[in-house]
Amino acid sequence: MYKSFYSLAKTPFSKEIHPSDAFQSTDYQGALNALKYLQKSKGIGLLIGDPGAGKTFSLRSFKDSLNPSLYHVIYFPLSTGGVMDFYRGLAYELGEQPKFRKVDLFRQIQQGIERMTTERKITPVFILDEMHMAKDAFLQDLALLFNFQMDSINPFILILAGLPHLKTRLTLNHHRPLTQRVIMKYEIQPLSREEVSGYIDHHMKVAGAKMPIFTETAIEAIAQRSQGWPRVINNITISSLLFGSQLKKELIDEEIIRLAVEESGLQ
Ligand SMILES: Nc1ncnc2c1ncn2[C@@H]1O[C@H](COP(=O)(O)OP(=O)(O)O)[C@@H](O)[C@H]1O
Ligand SMILES: [Mg+2]
Repeated sequence: MYKSFYSLAKTPFSKEIHPSDAFQSTDYQGALNALKYLQKSKGIGLLIGDPGAGKTFSLRSFKDSLNPSLYHVIYFPLSTGGVMDFYRGLAYELGEQPKFRKVDLFRQIQQGIERMTTERKITPVFILDEMHMAKDAFLQDLALLFNFQMDSINPFILILAGLPHLKTRLTLNHHRPLTQRVIMKYEIQPLSREEVSGYIDHHMKVAGAKMPIFTETAIEAIAQRSQGWPRVINNITISSLLFGSQLKKELIDEEIIRLAVEESGLQ
Protein backbone atom coordinates (compact mmCIF):
# COMPACT_ATOMS: atom_id res chain seq x y z
CA MET A 1 0.00 0.00 0.00
CA TYR A 2 1.01 3.65 -0.37
CA LYS A 3 1.98 3.90 3.29
CA SER A 4 4.94 1.58 2.87
CA PHE A 5 5.80 2.92 -0.60
CA TYR A 6 6.13 6.46 0.81
CA SER A 7 7.61 5.17 4.13
CA LEU A 8 4.84 6.67 6.26
CA ALA A 9 4.33 5.58 9.85
CA LYS A 10 0.62 6.48 9.90
CA THR A 11 -2.20 6.99 7.44
CA PRO A 12 -2.05 10.68 6.48
CA PHE A 13 -5.05 13.04 6.19
CA SER A 14 -7.05 10.90 8.55
CA LYS A 15 -10.45 11.70 10.01
CA GLU A 16 -9.18 10.50 13.37
CA ILE A 17 -6.46 13.14 13.62
CA HIS A 18 -5.94 14.07 17.25
CA PRO A 19 -6.61 17.69 18.31
CA SER A 20 -3.02 17.95 19.52
CA ASP A 21 -1.98 17.35 15.89
CA ALA A 22 -4.22 20.10 14.53
CA PHE A 23 -2.92 22.40 11.84
CA GLN A 24 -3.09 25.87 13.37
CA SER A 25 -4.77 27.73 10.51
CA THR A 26 -6.14 31.23 11.06
CA ASP A 27 -9.70 30.03 11.06
CA TYR A 28 -9.12 26.95 13.19
CA GLN A 29 -7.68 29.27 15.81
CA GLY A 30 -10.48 31.74 15.21
CA ALA A 31 -13.12 29.06 15.77
CA LEU A 32 -11.44 27.87 18.95
CA ASN A 33 -11.13 31.42 20.28
CA ALA A 34 -14.81 32.00 19.58
CA LEU A 35 -15.66 28.79 21.45
CA LYS A 36 -13.42 29.85 24.36
CA TYR A 37 -15.29 33.14 24.51
CA LEU A 38 -18.54 31.19 24.74
CA GLN A 39 -17.02 29.02 27.46
CA LYS A 40 -16.48 32.15 29.57
CA SER A 41 -19.72 33.94 28.87
CA LYS A 42 -21.91 30.81 28.57
CA GLY A 43 -25.14 30.81 26.55
CA ILE A 44 -25.77 30.02 22.90
CA GLY A 45 -23.23 30.03 20.05
CA LEU A 46 -23.33 29.30 16.34
CA LEU A 47 -20.53 27.60 14.38
CA ILE A 48 -21.02 27.75 10.64
CA GLY A 49 -19.01 26.45 7.70
CA ASP A 50 -19.16 24.71 4.34
CA PRO A 51 -18.94 20.90 4.23
CA GLY A 52 -15.47 19.79 5.30
CA ALA A 53 -14.48 23.21 6.65
CA GLY A 54 -13.44 21.76 10.02
CA LYS A 55 -16.50 22.37 12.21
CA THR A 56 -16.70 18.93 13.81
CA PHE A 57 -12.94 18.80 14.24
CA SER A 58 -12.90 22.22 15.97
CA LEU A 59 -15.74 21.07 18.24
CA ARG A 60 -13.76 17.94 19.08
CA SER A 61 -10.71 20.07 19.95
CA PHE A 62 -12.86 22.36 22.09
CA LYS A 63 -14.35 19.37 23.91
CA ASP A 64 -10.87 18.00 24.57
CA SER A 65 -9.76 21.32 26.03
CA LEU A 66 -12.47 21.30 28.71
CA ASN A 67 -11.78 20.05 32.23
CA PRO A 68 -14.15 17.09 32.70
CA SER A 69 -14.63 17.85 36.38
CA LEU A 70 -16.05 21.28 35.49
CA TYR A 71 -17.82 20.64 32.18
CA HIS A 72 -20.09 17.86 31.04
CA VAL A 73 -20.17 17.67 27.24
CA ILE A 74 -23.15 16.19 25.44
CA TYR A 75 -22.47 15.86 21.71
CA PHE A 76 -25.38 15.10 19.42
CA PRO A 77 -25.09 15.00 15.62
CA LEU A 78 -28.54 15.47 14.17
CA SER A 79 -27.95 12.80 11.56
CA THR A 80 -28.15 10.02 14.13
CA GLY A 81 -31.65 10.05 15.52
CA GLY A 82 -35.02 11.61 15.99
CA VAL A 83 -35.62 14.63 18.19
CA MET A 84 -37.43 12.63 20.87
CA ASP A 85 -34.32 10.43 21.15
CA PHE A 86 -32.38 13.63 21.60
CA TYR A 87 -34.58 14.91 24.44
CA ARG A 88 -34.50 11.51 26.14
CA GLY A 89 -30.75 11.32 25.71
CA LEU A 90 -30.38 14.79 27.21
CA ALA A 91 -32.48 13.92 30.25
CA TYR A 92 -30.53 10.72 30.71
CA GLU A 93 -27.13 12.41 30.38
CA LEU A 94 -28.22 14.95 32.96
CA GLY A 95 -28.83 12.12 35.38
CA GLU A 96 -32.62 11.86 35.06
CA GLN A 97 -34.78 8.86 34.23
CA PRO A 98 -36.38 10.09 30.96
CA LYS A 99 -40.15 10.66 31.11
CA PHE A 100 -42.44 9.86 28.23
CA ARG A 101 -44.15 13.12 27.29
CA LYS A 102 -42.29 16.02 25.75
CA VAL A 103 -43.49 18.59 28.32
CA ASP A 104 -42.31 16.37 31.15
CA LEU A 105 -39.01 15.74 29.42
CA PHE A 106 -38.47 19.50 28.97
CA ARG A 107 -39.07 20.10 32.67
CA GLN A 108 -36.72 17.25 33.52
CA ILE A 109 -33.99 18.62 31.27
CA GLN A 110 -34.27 22.10 32.76
CA GLN A 111 -34.20 20.68 36.28
CA GLY A 112 -31.27 18.45 35.34
CA ILE A 113 -29.31 21.47 34.08
CA GLU A 114 -30.08 23.42 37.26
CA ARG A 115 -29.07 20.53 39.46
CA MET A 116 -25.86 19.92 37.59
CA THR A 117 -24.90 23.59 37.90
CA THR A 118 -25.97 24.29 41.46
CA GLU A 119 -25.37 20.98 43.23
CA ARG A 120 -22.41 19.60 41.31
CA LYS A 121 -20.95 22.88 40.06
CA ILE A 122 -20.63 21.42 36.60
CA THR A 123 -21.53 23.35 33.44
CA PRO A 124 -23.35 21.26 30.85
CA VAL A 125 -22.13 21.84 27.29
CA PHE A 126 -24.57 20.83 24.56
CA ILE A 127 -23.07 20.46 21.11
CA LEU A 128 -25.62 20.00 18.36
CA ASP A 129 -23.88 19.20 15.08
CA GLU A 130 -25.37 19.05 11.56
CA MET A 131 -28.06 21.50 12.68
CA HIS A 132 -28.89 22.53 9.11
CA MET A 133 -30.85 19.25 9.08
CA ALA A 134 -33.07 20.40 11.94
CA LYS A 135 -36.76 20.89 11.26
CA ASP A 136 -38.29 24.28 12.09
CA ALA A 137 -40.25 22.75 14.96
CA PHE A 138 -37.03 21.51 16.55
CA LEU A 139 -35.38 24.94 16.35
CA GLN A 140 -38.47 26.43 17.96
CA ASP A 141 -38.38 23.77 20.68
CA LEU A 142 -34.77 24.68 21.43
CA ALA A 143 -35.74 28.30 21.98
CA LEU A 144 -38.25 27.12 24.58
CA LEU A 145 -36.09 24.47 26.15
CA PHE A 146 -33.12 26.76 26.67
CA ASN A 147 -35.13 29.80 27.62
CA PHE A 148 -34.36 29.88 31.28
CA GLN A 149 -31.82 31.67 33.37
CA MET A 150 -30.57 31.44 36.90
CA ASP A 151 -29.35 34.51 38.75
CA SER A 152 -29.55 36.25 35.37
CA ILE A 153 -26.76 34.08 33.95
CA ASN A 154 -27.04 31.16 31.58
CA PRO A 155 -26.20 27.96 33.41
CA PHE A 156 -25.27 26.11 30.20
CA ILE A 157 -23.37 26.31 26.92
CA LEU A 158 -25.25 25.42 23.75
CA ILE A 159 -23.40 25.22 20.44
CA LEU A 160 -25.29 24.88 17.18
CA ALA A 161 -23.09 23.83 14.26
CA GLY A 162 -24.06 23.48 10.62
CA LEU A 163 -23.80 24.51 6.99
CA PRO A 164 -24.14 28.19 5.97
CA HIS A 165 -27.83 27.91 5.18
CA LEU A 166 -28.50 27.29 8.88
CA LYS A 167 -27.46 30.90 9.44
CA THR A 168 -29.87 32.06 6.72
CA ARG A 169 -32.70 30.01 8.16
CA LEU A 170 -32.16 31.41 11.61
CA THR A 171 -32.65 34.94 10.32
CA LEU A 172 -36.30 34.13 9.56
CA ASN A 173 -38.83 35.80 11.79
CA HIS A 174 -40.15 32.71 13.51
CA HIS A 175 -36.66 31.85 14.76
CA ARG A 176 -36.06 35.22 16.37
CA PRO A 177 -36.64 33.95 19.92
CA LEU A 178 -33.62 31.67 19.42
CA THR A 179 -31.45 33.95 17.26
CA GLN A 180 -31.81 36.92 19.58
CA ARG A 181 -30.10 34.92 22.26
CA VAL A 182 -27.13 33.81 20.16
CA ILE A 183 -24.12 35.58 21.66
CA MET A 184 -21.36 34.06 19.52
CA LYS A 185 -21.31 33.47 15.80
CA TYR A 186 -18.34 32.15 13.85
CA GLU A 187 -18.09 31.13 10.22
CA ILE A 188 -15.06 29.03 9.23
CA GLN A 189 -13.49 30.24 5.98
CA PRO A 190 -11.39 28.07 3.62
CA LEU A 191 -7.62 27.81 3.97
CA SER A 192 -5.61 30.40 2.04
CA ARG A 193 -3.23 29.29 -0.74
CA GLU A 194 -0.26 29.43 1.69
CA GLU A 195 -2.22 27.55 4.32
CA VAL A 196 -3.06 24.74 1.89
CA SER A 197 0.65 24.19 1.42
CA GLY A 198 1.27 24.30 5.18
CA TYR A 199 -1.71 22.01 5.81
CA ILE A 200 -0.45 19.31 3.41
CA ASP A 201 3.06 19.55 4.80
CA HIS A 202 1.73 19.34 8.35
CA HIS A 203 -0.45 16.26 7.74
CA MET A 204 2.42 14.51 5.93
CA LYS A 205 4.77 15.22 8.84
CA VAL A 206 2.19 13.95 11.35
CA ALA A 207 2.06 10.76 9.25
CA GLY A 208 5.83 10.45 9.53
CA ALA A 209 6.99 11.64 6.07
CA LYS A 210 10.71 12.36 6.10
CA MET A 211 10.81 14.47 2.95
CA PRO A 212 8.40 16.34 0.67
CA ILE A 213 6.32 14.05 -1.55
CA PHE A 214 4.10 16.65 -3.23
CA THR A 215 5.76 19.00 -5.72
CA GLU A 216 5.03 22.74 -5.67
CA THR A 217 2.88 22.48 -8.78
CA ALA A 218 0.97 19.55 -7.25
CA ILE A 219 0.19 21.69 -4.22
CA GLU A 220 -0.91 24.51 -6.48
CA ALA A 221 -3.28 22.11 -8.28
CA ILE A 222 -4.69 20.83 -4.97
CA ALA A 223 -5.22 24.39 -3.72
CA GLN A 224 -7.11 25.25 -6.88
CA ARG A 225 -9.29 22.18 -7.01
CA SER A 226 -10.09 22.08 -3.30
CA GLN A 227 -10.73 25.81 -2.93
CA GLY A 228 -9.03 25.42 0.45
CA TRP A 229 -11.58 23.14 2.14
CA PRO A 230 -9.74 20.63 4.37
CA ARG A 231 -11.88 17.55 3.66
CA VAL A 232 -11.56 18.05 -0.10
CA ILE A 233 -7.80 18.43 0.30
CA ASN A 234 -7.78 15.17 2.30
CA ASN A 235 -9.69 13.32 -0.41
CA ILE A 236 -7.50 14.57 -3.23
CA THR A 237 -4.23 13.90 -1.41
CA ILE A 238 -5.26 10.40 -0.31
CA SER A 239 -6.28 9.32 -3.79
CA SER A 240 -3.19 10.89 -5.34
CA LEU A 241 -0.99 8.97 -2.89
CA LEU A 242 -2.76 5.81 -4.02
CA PHE A 243 -2.23 6.63 -7.69
CA GLY A 244 1.33 7.76 -7.09
CA SER A 245 2.27 4.53 -5.38
CA GLN A 246 0.62 2.42 -8.09
CA LEU A 247 2.61 4.28 -10.72
CA LYS A 248 5.76 4.02 -8.55
CA LYS A 249 6.26 7.80 -8.50
CA GLU A 250 8.34 8.96 -5.57
CA LEU A 251 7.19 12.52 -6.16
CA ILE A 252 3.60 13.46 -6.77
CA ASP A 253 3.21 16.10 -9.45
CA GLU A 254 0.20 17.94 -10.88
CA GLU A 255 -0.31 15.22 -13.47
CA ILE A 256 -1.00 12.67 -10.73
CA ILE A 257 -3.32 15.11 -8.99
CA ARG A 258 -5.26 15.55 -12.24
CA LEU A 259 -5.47 11.79 -12.70
CA ALA A 260 -6.52 11.21 -9.10
CA VAL A 261 -9.22 13.85 -9.25
CA GLU A 262 -10.62 12.60 -12.56
CA GLU A 263 -10.39 8.89 -11.91
CA SER A 264 -11.86 8.99 -8.43
CA GLY A 265 -14.69 11.30 -9.43
CA LEU A 266 -13.66 13.99 -6.99
CA GLN A 267 -14.68 16.62 -9.48
N1 LIG B 1 -7.14 22.45 11.72
C1 LIG B 1 -7.10 21.22 11.19
N2 LIG B 1 -6.00 20.46 11.33
C2 LIG B 1 -5.93 19.24 10.81
N3 LIG B 1 -6.93 18.65 10.11
C3 LIG B 1 -8.06 19.35 9.94
C4 LIG B 1 -8.22 20.67 10.47
N4 LIG B 1 -9.45 21.10 10.13
C5 LIG B 1 -10.04 20.12 9.43
N5 LIG B 1 -9.21 19.06 9.31
C6 LIG B 1 -9.46 17.80 8.58
O1 LIG B 1 -10.59 18.00 7.76
C7 LIG B 1 -11.55 16.96 7.96
C8 LIG B 1 -12.94 17.52 7.79
O2 LIG B 1 -13.25 18.37 8.88
P1 LIG B 1 -14.65 18.29 9.65
O3 LIG B 1 -14.46 18.94 10.95
O4 LIG B 1 -15.19 16.91 9.62
O5 LIG B 1 -15.55 19.23 8.69
P2 LIG B 1 -17.06 19.71 8.89
O6 LIG B 1 -17.56 19.20 10.20
O7 LIG B 1 -16.99 21.20 8.81
O8 LIG B 1 -17.80 19.14 7.71
C9 LIG B 1 -11.25 16.42 9.35
O9 LIG B 1 -11.59 15.06 9.44
C10 LIG B 1 -9.74 16.60 9.47
O10 LIG B 1 -9.08 15.49 8.91
MG1 LIG C 1 -19.12 17.85 10.57
